[in-house]
Amino acid sequence: MREYEVVVLGAGGVGKSALTVRFVNDSFLEHYNPTIEEQYRREIAVDGEHIALEILDTAGAEQFTALNEVYITSGHGFLLVFSLTHEASLHDLDNIRQQVLHIKQGEPDLPIVIVGTKMDLYNEREVTSGALQELATSWGIPFYETSAKRNWNIQEVFQDLTKQMKAR
Ligand code: GTP
Ligand code: MG
Repeated sequence: MREYEVVVLGAGGVGKSALTVRFVNDSFLEHYNPTIEEQYRREIAVDGEHIALEILDTAGAEQFTALNEVYITSGHGFLLVFSLTHEASLHDLDNIRQQVLHIKQGEPDLPIVIVGTKMDLYNEREVTSGALQELATSWGIPFYETSAKRNWNIQEVFQDLTKQMKAR
């Protein structure tokens, strides 16, 4: 079975762990417990092929540590996660994206997906679909609006990323 390493990156509290746990365990992580580093494993079927994903859920608080550099170096695919309810977390993705591109220098077609979280919190929303689409298009990266709480678009994110990793 093919196996890929996925690195989940983004600012603190945006919902990286909730996204990962929804995908891996199909449950919702209600209580906020800042991550240091967690690794998960799940199989996914893409176009009839079973693929093993090693998913590394990183600490938002330590975006620019040497540790993240190690993860990015060994990673095959990257989820750039921000919260639709916190505009600053979308701007944070610019630095994270630059960091990934820098560490993976010279590698074309890096598998990346942008993930907007907490879509269910309509009243707290700060990022419009239009603004997200504009940024993602300018970067040439696919994006999804998701809710780990409601299980919206979670499978789609991992399907898209895995397809990209397979295609390389
Ligand atoms: P760090 O590990 O500190 O980097 O944070 P994180 O990005 O892993 O955030 P985490 O997944 O722990 O989620 C933070 C808080 O947001 C938790 O209380 C989650 O329950 C909540 N949350 C995450 N995703 C969603 C969502 O889709 N909808 C709602 N309503 N809340 C969410
Ligand atoms: Mg976390």
